[in-house]
Amino acid sequence: GEYAGLGEVSGKTVLVRSDLNVPLDGTTITDDGRIRASVPTIKALADAGARVVVTAHLGRPKGAPEPAYSLGPVAARLGELLGQEVAFATDTVGDSAKETVAALADGQVAVLENVRFNPGETSKDDAERGAFADQLVALTGPDGAFVSDGFGVVHRKQASVYDVAQRLPHAMGGLVAAEIDVLRRLTVKPERPYVVVLGGSKVSDKLGVIDNLLGKADKLLIGGGMVFTFLAAEGHEVGKSLLEEDQLDTCRDYLRRAREAGVELVLPSDIIVDTEFPSGDRTPAPGSVPSSEIPADSLGLDIGPESAASYARALSDARTVFWNGPMGVFEVDAFAAGTKAVAEALTRVSAAGGLTVVGGGDSAAAVRKLGFDEDAFGHISTGGGASLEYLEGKELPGITVLES
Ligand code: 3PG
Repeated sequence: GEYAGLGEVSGKTVLVRSDLNVPLDGTTITDDGRIRASVPTIKALADAGARVVVTAHLGRPKGAPEPAYSLGPVAARLGELLGQEVAFATDTVGDSAKETVAALADGQVAVLENVRFNPGETSKDDAERGAFADQLVALTGPDGAFVSDGFGVVHRKQASVYDVAQRLPHAMGGLVAAEIDVLRRLTVKPERPYVVVLGGSKVSDKLGVIDNLLGKADKLLIGGGMVFTFLAAEGHEVGKSLLEEDQLDTCRDYLRRAREAGVELVLPSDIIVDTEFPSGDRTPAPGSVPSSEIPADSLGLDIGPESAASYARALSDARTVFWNGPMGVFEVDAFAAGTKAVAEALTRVSAAGGLTVVGGGDSAAAVRKLGFDEDAFGHISTGGGASLEYLEGKELPGITVLES
């Protein structure tokens, strides 16, 4: 059988970089979206007769094994979803990896332990990263190949993403190709109105994307924790809400630039507040206040009902929507209504034939947690940082390297 640009892969050992970085509660996977999204490429290679060796990371261990970040549970779930046995190597390039790969027959699949258990994976030193990449490549034998399918990590210049592609015949996996295709549609002549909804806790994570979208989107709706730095920039008191003092000037600048460019930058007019951040042993006591009247002893935890309705209206005639970041602390029912309203509005845009893209680990997890059917959205991206960096117009090392 053949795979994409690689030609015949039957009998060959193919290294696949997937993004299997899923949220875990102990050893229980709480959202397996990224594993499910990785299945088609792995399955296509196995069906074509390749010996498939999957590399991936989990969390951010510091270059040494940490049991809490083992990919063991992920490998088990992958096996269930693939409907075939998946071998698991308890190290990444050591004896277990060598034995596991050597034992693979055509069409079989193995997962190597967390690549980030090795300091070479994320090293800034080209030689150190290269040496680790050499060890990964050595596992594949004389006619190995590489398939890059971990869209969530293509913005990382790391050994299993970047350096291995320089050392092996390579191809873009189906997931990466699909993600890039959708993101390109957002950047090249998006159908208008083009509305962007940005949430999440920090403005500082979204600076590049706001910068870039101020010239491209028709409306920018703001929610999540970053609302309060914008409200403070407009001169409002925000009580105990999340506030990034060092971004106040930046937010003022965005508000001014949006006015000048004729882009509607919309902040919520009301906020759901409570006197404390939700925690397990406390019953939430939510209240709704105008955004200009957040009490000193309270913090904002969701956009209010008036804002949720007005964001839904602002989205109602959209033809293209990109949404990154929840509107509130959606994990707690009392603070989930804003996120739910935005998700619902997106499903209506999709139903009317518009393009809707949900980007980012958190918003993707939110729509699944809130019980939405994934098919009700045009595309749910597996990449958080990667999709934002693409929209910022940044070069993605893991993509560029495939073009050489
Ligand atoms: C993600 O969760 O966005 C990706 O898996 C990348 O993880 P990283 O930010 O730790 O590189």
